[in-house]
Amino acid sequence: MDTSRRVFFNKLTIGIAASTIIPRINLQSEEQIFLKNGEINWDEVRKNFPLSKERIYFNNGTFGPSPNSVIEKMKNQIDEINATGDYGSTSSTINSVAHFINAEESEIALTHNTTEGINIMAFGVKMKADDEIIMCSHEHVGNAMPWLNRAKRDHLKIRVFDPGNTREENISAIKSLINSKTRVIAIPHIPCTTGIVFPIAEIAEIAREKNIITAIDGAHGVGTFNLDIRSLGVDMYASCCHKWLLGPAGTGFVFINNAILPDIEAIHVGAYSDSGWKLDTKEQEILGFNPTAHRFFYGTQGKAHFSGVDAAIDFHQNIGSQEIEDRIRFLNNYLYQGLQQFPKKLDILTPKESVSRLAMVSFKPKNTDYKEFGHILNEEKIRVRQVPESGLNAIRISTHIYNSTEEIDYLLKVIEDRLK
Ligand SMILES: Cc1ncc(COP(=O)(O)O)c(C=O)c1O
Repeated sequence: MDTSRRVFFNKLTIGIAASTIIPRINLQSEEQIFLKNGEINWDEVRKNFPLSKERIYFNNGTFGPSPNSVIEKMKNQIDEINATGDYGSTSSTINSVAHFINAEESEIALTHNTTEGINIMAFGVKMKADDEIIMCSHEHVGNAMPWLNRAKRDHLKIRVFDPGNTREENISAIKSLINSKTRVIAIPHIPCTTGIVFPIAEIAEIAREKNIITAIDGAHGVGTFNLDIRSLGVDMYASCCHKWLLGPAGTGFVFINNAILPDIEAIHVGAYSDSGWKLDTKEQEILGFNPTAHRFFYGTQGKAHFSGVDAAIDFHQNIGSQEIEDRIRFLNNYLYQGLQQFPKKLDILTPKESVSRLAMVSFKPKNTDYKEFGHILNEEKIRVRQVPESGLNAIRISTHIYNSTEEIDYLLKVIEDRLK
């Protein structure tokens, strides 16, 4: 490690020692979070996270570490549930999620991750043999597998486009695949590979005109954008709370627009899925399904975990969804500009167009194997994600509100010193 990097790294480590003696800051105390001029003090926000400073964490796109308020809420709930036996209701979380994204409560089913929501969407749409689904060639396995599975079971066709570098290119790529058999557009809002942002509102508008259902993999769209699902205009949207929302691992939700809800079939059902059933020696039938999206969400749930989602939404709202989106964009631009200094060492795969990127930047080392450079970053105590998908062989950097420009500078210095 060269001297300048060591000095910087020591600063980071000193930060940890200091953060352990600073009392926990409750985000409710706004004076500490907001500076006198009304700007947010992001260093104070960072102190709400127990995330270790022994290592720089640039992998929020895989998992978002929670702030203290989320962890405390879960711990308290576990204690309370086991003291009282009241293991019960998750209705407050349905309410929080609905308000957070501007949906109706009837449109939200809680899930345990994005993939579960995608399975609900993929198997819920009525389709017949030869119907077509549009997807892209940069799918995460969590979106690819459910739709491939559905296509295999019902002899459907999946038509695929390669993501382009601008919103216009992506819109025209999708338009060129639409025909009279297209039933669903099942693409991510933001693919895990390059972090490109697809223009979902425009795509949903095109789909609506042609009676095509939009079923969006929104793993990276909640907690990043100041998301208004109503104005996005999609039919269905599956997301998780354990990435950008900074909620507990194993929590998520699926939004199903009221307009389409009656047509979406529930494949897996149980308690709360029905509006009545009979099973005795004379009669055996389902009398009806729950008319709300609650029919996809059944059985006993981990209330403590879902209470952590409530706390994560409070945390976001206390800072402000727009302020969070602005900070994410600021860090993304800072990183993007920094990486542009190294045209001989790496190719940036994420589009330059600012409207087509948000929270992640991927680059492919030119003269070094991506896994080897991933190993170097690991040695330097920088946590990133390697991207083997779609043969990209790249490194993905994701940045969230707990990251700083100093951490990005450190990464850039490592690239300067150690990437050939
Ligand atoms: C684009 C995308 N879709 C789906 C998933 C799967 O998410 P989950 O683990 O919440 O099911 C991920 C996870 O990284 C993802 O990046």
